[in-house]
Amino acid sequence: MKIIAVLTIGLLAAIMFSGKKHRSSANTELKNIKLPSPVYGGETSIEEALKRRRSVREYSDEPLTLTQVSQILWAAQGITDSRNFRTAPSAGALYPLEVYLVVGNVQDLPEGVYRYQPNHHELSLELEGDKRKAVAQAALLQNWMTKAPVILVIAAVYGRTTIKYGARGKRYVHMEAGHTAQNVYLQAMSLNLGTVIVGAFVDQAVKNVLTMKKQEQPLAIMPIGSAQ
Ligand SMILES: Cc1cc2nc3c(=O)[nH]c(=O)nc-3n(C[C@H](O)[C@H](O)[C@H](O)COP(=O)(O)O)c2cc1C
Repeated sequence: MKIIAVLTIGLLAAIMFSGKKHRSSANTELKNIKLPSPVYGGETSIEEALKRRRSVREYSDEPLTLTQVSQILWAAQGITDSRNFRTAPSAGALYPLEVYLVVGNVQDLPEGVYRYQPNHHELSLELEGDKRKAVAQAALLQNWMTKAPVILVIAAVYGRTTIKYGARGKRYVHMEAGHTAQNVYLQAMSLNLGTVIVGAFVDQAVKNVLTMKKQEQPLAIMPIGSAQ
């Protein structure tokens, strides 16, 4: 009887966890991928990027390069000075945002979910496999986004800001997500890429797909790719 119970529990556990390749599995090492250095001089003026910025929801099959990915992530939350201040302003310089990158079609970067590490300008692997379809499903079936080579997700740890500013801190965090999203829009424009900010999604579903930490909350989804 006892053996049957143990076997049943084992079988159930195997079914529940089968196919899920997560960073904590015994055979998956946490991998860090160094990104190419960002460049600080582009060919597009800020005025031109502002003028031409549009939301883009149709993407070509062209893969992104690691250089393009590097530049986008730097624009989102990259370090810009010796005090570790970043491209986007942050209330009290407390930096509550975390940037995830859902990778589906990038040269020299395996499919998976990565976290941007601003201090080292690198990506750390969170989860293996192509999760774009699952993100689109969590975004109320906005399936057009599965064609984007990458989907950037802006998340926040509210506590980093509310510990100093109380309830008002939540408002500050939302402002910061907006700054970051606009940086991504303008940088994408400057690289001749297209993006769109997506706010329609089920929070818990996005958290589940990306295996976010309990204290992290997804705030915005931004598919990015070459415009068709
Ligand atoms: C907070 C916010 C949430 C949005 N959510 C979505 C969304 O879920 N799906 C979508 O396709 N576009 C979304 N958009 C993009 C808007 O539809 C788009 O910005 C608007 O149509 C104006 O077009 P433009 O960005 O090209 O100027 C969102 C925009 C904002 C600012």
